[in-house]
Amino acid sequence: MLKPFYVTTPIYYVNAMPHLGHAYTTVVADVVNRFHRMCGQETYFLTGTDEHGDKVVRAARDEGLSPLAYADQISELFKGLWPELDIEYDQFIRTTESDHIRVVKLVLQNIYDSGDIYFSEYEGAYCFGCERFYAERELVNGKCPDHETVPEVIKESNYFFRMSRYQDWLIDYILTHPDFIQPERYKNEVLAFLREPLEDLCISRPKSRLQWGITLPFDDNYVTYVWFDALLNYVSAQGYPDGERFKKFWPAVQHIVAKDILKPHGIYWPIMLKAAGIPLYHQLRVHGYWNVEDSKMSKSLGNMVDPMELKNVYGVDAFRYFLLREMAFGLDASFSEKALIQRINSDLANDLGNLFSRSLTMVHKYFNGVVPKGDGAAESGFDLDVKSGAIRAVEDYEKAMADLAFHKALIAVWEFINRINKYIDISAPWELAKKKTQYTQLELVLYNIVESLRIIAGLVYPLMPRTARVMQKHLGMTSPDTFQTLEDLKVWGKTRSGTKLPKTVTLFPRVEPDKPKSESRKAAPQKEAGASEKPEIPMKIFQQIDLRVATVLHAERVEKSENLLKLKVDAGEERTVVAGIAKSYQPEDLIGKQVVIVANLKPAKLMGVLSRGMVLAAGEKDTLRLVTLDGPSEPGTPLA
Ligand code: MSP
Repeated sequence: MLKPFYVTTPIYYVNAMPHLGHAYTTVVADVVNRFHRMCGQETYFLTGTDEHGDKVVRAARDEGLSPLAYADQISELFKGLWPELDIEYDQFIRTTESDHIRVVKLVLQNIYDSGDIYFSEYEGAYCFGCERFYAERELVNGKCPDHETVPEVIKESNYFFRMSRYQDWLIDYILTHPDFIQPERYKNEVLAFLREPLEDLCISRPKSRLQWGITLPFDDNYVTYVWFDALLNYVSAQGYPDGERFKKFWPAVQHIVAKDILKPHGIYWPIMLKAAGIPLYHQLRVHGYWNVEDSKMSKSLGNMVDPMELKNVYGVDAFRYFLLREMAFGLDASFSEKALIQRINSDLANDLGNLFSRSLTMVHKYFNGVVPKGDGAAESGFDLDVKSGAIRAVEDYEKAMADLAFHKALIAVWEFINRINKYIDISAPWELAKKKTQYTQLELVLYNIVESLRIIAGLVYPLMPRTARVMQKHLGMTSPDTFQTLEDLKVWGKTRSGTKLPKTVTLFPRVEPDKPKSESRKAAPQKEAGASEKPEIPMKIFQQIDLRVATVLHAERVEKSENLLKLKVDAGEERTVVAGIAKSYQPEDLIGKQVVIVANLKPAKLMGVLSRGMVLAAGEKDTLRLVTLDGPSEPGTPLA
């Protein structure tokens, strides 16, 4: 029996929309999870949202919502994004769930009882952005290194976690468990932190300052520091302390995070586990940061990259491929749409896509779409080369995947793809097809190609599951043999001769390199006499627009705006939509009206109000007419 496997992502703060960085970590966890499944292990994949703390309170206040209502909205955005990126998690945890809160209180009480939490007065530099105190030496020119703001000096009585007591133990543990924190550079970074004296961690916030948190079990006047709460999600999700899943999966846990949260994961978390008497996590794996065209990705620079938009324009697998191929796990990488298009055209459309379609076209042309025999002819050097190439590709791939070196795993697969492309050129099936005497050689060559494609489909599965599925379907593989284990890929000759293949497909359409497609840089529409000013769109794009019936429950003017009304609507579920119709409609005229909304429009803030969707109307600003239905309809009904 192989050991179970458990992978986690950070739980993301609900004070920001999901972006490229969140998508990367979560795609990586999905790839790792699928890879371990391919290795025959039972796996568990956890992600979720971190919902307490001051940041959330402030973001919610800006939107005029309660922290929980706000957390509900943003958490849904994360939850809804992951399936769009073909991310198959087992559990989505929210730190506002009662099971999680119960575990946080239990662990706090245990540590308190064992004497590692004490009460004391403290005066120090507090960064509200980070929600923590900073020691003088941690500041850069007197400022918080993350927020570049001068922290406020505050004096407070609080509860402290005696981390200092565990400093030597942790150093020793890291040194004697070289794989505990990987890659090496991050292990060294943690050890460097630990060369300085470790301060005790302030783990409470007085309720007079913050209420949005988990109340300390031993003092009602305080809530728990958000990190002490958040880290425990990794065990609460598994039913700590007695859950069966906890017993099964916890010993195998692998946490995947970026370098920004190395310290909480590399220092606080192991010490918390040790103090609570919970076995330590198995491994922490840390990746670098995505920049955008070499600048830091940030709201203020307005260069946040929206994964949903990229997926809609380029396809989910092209997006996943780019992330995994472009970043060496552990190092920073730079995103640009130009580089993404280049990768699509050269690696995906050209190398893999062409290989696939030219190969299947030949099977159709020379064998009527039926996989020929693969064992009839004497094998030449080139034929043998294909087999040894397959074995090497699988070996290199396996090693790279275990190291989370996805770019190397893909390089190994692409070396094999290029080898097959060369094999086709050298063995020239179109020449073999001209002579009857070379029929068995033609059979062998095409069998070898189809068999290689089977292995390639299996190898790309964790990284591009959709492409793997399409490839396998067109290679005539039907359920139950569509799920290939790594062992299946190590065995040559599993393709069945005589299988009838469906017609070939284009795996990846080429993208015009001079036309970036994302919203921010869309090509100007071409205008023809009498034609719409907007470019033609294929049905597929139109079908992505989620139009729904919504009933207006409540309407009010948006403060300081002449045009905007804030509507609370029932669109199958309650949501807020801001509409520029204040000059055409009075709020009270709208209550109970059924309108049509674009339900999957990217949420946007209008005059400080977060709008989730858009109401359809026709006309000019002060003579707008709403699009309505000519009879009652269930709220949430999609428009066909
Ligand atoms: N809530 C905490 C984590 C608690 S885990 C117990 C938090 N949340 S976060 O929303 O800020 O997410 C941080 C994580 O998002 C990073 O560790 C990384 O996984 C991902 N990324 C955010 N920006 C990123 C980049 N620019 N590049 C790569 N990943 C980054 O911290």
